[in-house]
Amino acid sequence: MAVLTPAAFRARFPLLARRTYVNSCSQGALSTDVDAAMRRFLDSWNDEGSPWETWVGEVERLRTTFASLIGADADEIAVLPSASTGINAIASALTFDGTRRRVVMGRFEFPTMAQVWLAQRERGAEIGWADPVDGMLPPESYGKVVDERTLVVPATHVCFRNGHKTDIAGVAALCHDRGAYCFLDDYQRTGTEPMDVRALGVDFMVTGALKYLLGPSGVAFLYVRRELIERLVPTMTGWFGRVNPFAFSIDDLDWSSSARRFESGTPMIPNVYGAQAGLDLLGAVGLDAVEQTVAELTVGLMAWAGDAGVVTATPTDPARRGALVVLRSTDAPALVTRLGARGVIASCRDDGLRISFHGYNTQSDLDAVIAALEAESAMLVKEKLGELHA
Ligand SMILES: Cc1ncc(COP(=O)(O)O)c(C=O)c1O
Repeated sequence: MAVLTPAAFRARFPLLARRTYVNSCSQGALSTDVDAAMRRFLDSWNDEGSPWETWVGEVERLRTTFASLIGADADEIAVLPSASTGINAIASALTFDGTRRRVVMGRFEFPTMAQVWLAQRERGAEIGWADPVDGMLPPESYGKVVDERTLVVPATHVCFRNGHKTDIAGVAALCHDRGAYCFLDDYQRTGTEPMDVRALGVDFMVTGALKYLLGPSGVAFLYVRRELIERLVPTMTGWFGRVNPFAFSIDDLDWSSSARRFESGTPMIPNVYGAQAGLDLLGAVGLDAVEQTVAELTVGLMAWAGDAGVVTATPTDPARRGALVVLRSTDAPALVTRLGARGVIASCRDDGLRISFHGYNTQSDLDAVIAALEAESAMLVKEKLGELHA
């Protein structure tokens, strides 16, 4: 696809002409490209009946495109239906019966990451927590709890709840220093800025298509560092984890030598078509352009919040936040509804209103968000409560 200017990129999302869409942290907007790709799947089904060779070829194309997006090789990537499946596949390949049986997590994890590892307690895992300090989770917080008994450190890059961005390279270095694996959850960051997974130094990474990668639900990716792939044998498996799934053997349990060994059942073909179109579109505008737009808009919203005295859950340091800004609200679900009535689509978690930007957002979206927030200002928590209605 030819290079797209940010304006041409934005024009691919019909929703953006009707609404101020600032909820990509939950679901990316639908583009005409993804719409057309998913219809192409239906056409292939309707025209050819069961073109499985073509469909499996589409999974391989997606694997390759995603790998190049994050600076990995295609054989280090498993294409999966959800991030949870990827985390479970790795957890199932680890054992928790020696002295190294601890799983240390930060308090900013997405529930699924925490829950999969909590479930490993049945298999002998012990859980430890890295606690935030003043709303931040620096490598030093992990340093206090990661030790020679730690097997794996699952760590979210950008927190879905407050937008905090962890220094993952720092956490990964610390883990390796102490002999532990670092497992990155990049779901809230992938697609918002350029990425080199090798430079981060993590051992595993999961992310998914439906947010900043602009795809539908039902596609996620697991990266496994090359050296680890053949050392890990998941007990969560299925025929797509075999050397040749189409050998249809019920006697042999051979393992793909690539990260495909962490896949299990029939791939989710309609979603794969959509996810490919999302990645192609993102590639056409470029992650540098997305990063620049997101940085400008988050700086603008944080500056407005600072001037208006609105309490944010998101760090003020631009290096420690992602594409998500979270403002404290007296009633966040009601505020989301009120903003919706004003044409602004946002979301909330706990008492936080979540405003997230993508490369398709503009200064005019930011202006519309600020105007709507000023109109609903009574529902925002202010620095000095006495001045709330001044
Ligand atoms: C940080 C993070 N991890 C994981 C997920 C979802 O994982 P799954 O694909 O298993 O639903 C989300 C979705 O909101 C998320 O924000």
